[in-house]
Amino acid sequence: SIPLFTTVSAFRQWRNIARRDGKSVGYVPTMGALHEGHLSLVRQSLEENDLTVASIFVNPAQFAPHEDLATYPRTLPRDLELLESTANHKPVAVFLPTVQEMYPSGIDQDTAAQRGTFVEVKGYGEQMEGKSRPTFFRGVATVVTKLFNIIEPTNAYFGQKDIQQCIVLKRLVHDLHLSHPDAAHLHIVPTARDPIDNLALSSRNAYLSEEGRKVAPVLYAALTLAQEACLQGLPKNVCIERAAQLIQETASTSPLASDIKLDYIEINDSDTLAPWDSNQCYAPSTTTRPVIISGALWVGKTRLIDNVLLGPL
Ligand code: PAJ
Repeated sequence: SIPLFTTVSAFRQWRNIARRDGKSVGYVPTMGALHEGHLSLVRQSLEENDLTVASIFVNPAQFAPHEDLATYPRTLPRDLELLESTANHKPVAVFLPTVQEMYPSGIDQDTAAQRGTFVEVKGYGEQMEGKSRPTFFRGVATVVTKLFNIIEPTNAYFGQKDIQQCIVLKRLVHDLHLSHPDAAHLHIVPTARDPIDNLALSSRNAYLSEEGRKVAPVLYAALTLAQEACLQGLPKNVCIERAAQLIQETASTSPLASDIKLDYIEINDSDTLAPWDSNQCYAPSTTTRPVIISGALWVGKTRLIDNVLLGPL
């Protein structure tokens, strides 16, 4: 079965042997409740590295006090089974630290009460997801810095589903000089979706009721509609309006009705994350960098996110 490490020092012994043997280490950080999206990252890591490490850690610092830390799905035995079957006899190790191990100075979800060391990527974590979740990317940047210092990955794999997370972490690696020729190469893996209705796979989909699950795919449909409107050269506010309208129509015919609430749809530059002006249009000749069309939707008490791109990343 899979080697499982719960302390930094035990993991480092394993890591030192890998280094001594000259093996590359691919790394997939997760919060568990694994699904096909996580496993697609694991598969890419298995293909591109001698050894693969997955971590499972529900990071308190990225949940605001009112968010779902206590109820976040925890399915460890099944996670380990899925990792083992995905590994298919290739070497995979799991890092499963305690909160105490990851936050030796303690961690309070209330940022005002926090003590110890935190990492902020200014200018990249305030818009889009950061507008609704102002302390989220600080929590992500902090835990990923710690995890990178422990795992010392050759390559690390992140999902496009959390596109802003990928961009924040690329900045972090660049700004803190974490990357050198054998370390911390970030790879962005395409979003894994339900094969029938294209709902982006997410651990939080487990919260959805039957009715909620039926309407959830409207987020991707709406983003695709905005993408089509952009490609026709229509201005941003029109593109977003079309997407919002589709969500409105879908909500009005669902028994969940007003429990389906659009949080935001936004269009941003993929490099700076600067939002487009409201009358800005997509023009392939002048829009040289990829563009992100992203959104968040409340379906009852479940908050779903997704994104599509104009131009490849
Ligand atoms: P978690 O939500 O568990 O996701 C772990 C990784 O899986 C992330 O890189 C995420 O983008 C990727 N992922 C999730 N759903 C995906 C899908 N449908 N297709 C492709 N990739 C998908 O993201 C986190 O955990 C945390 O913020 C973490 C980076 C572990 C830091 O705590």
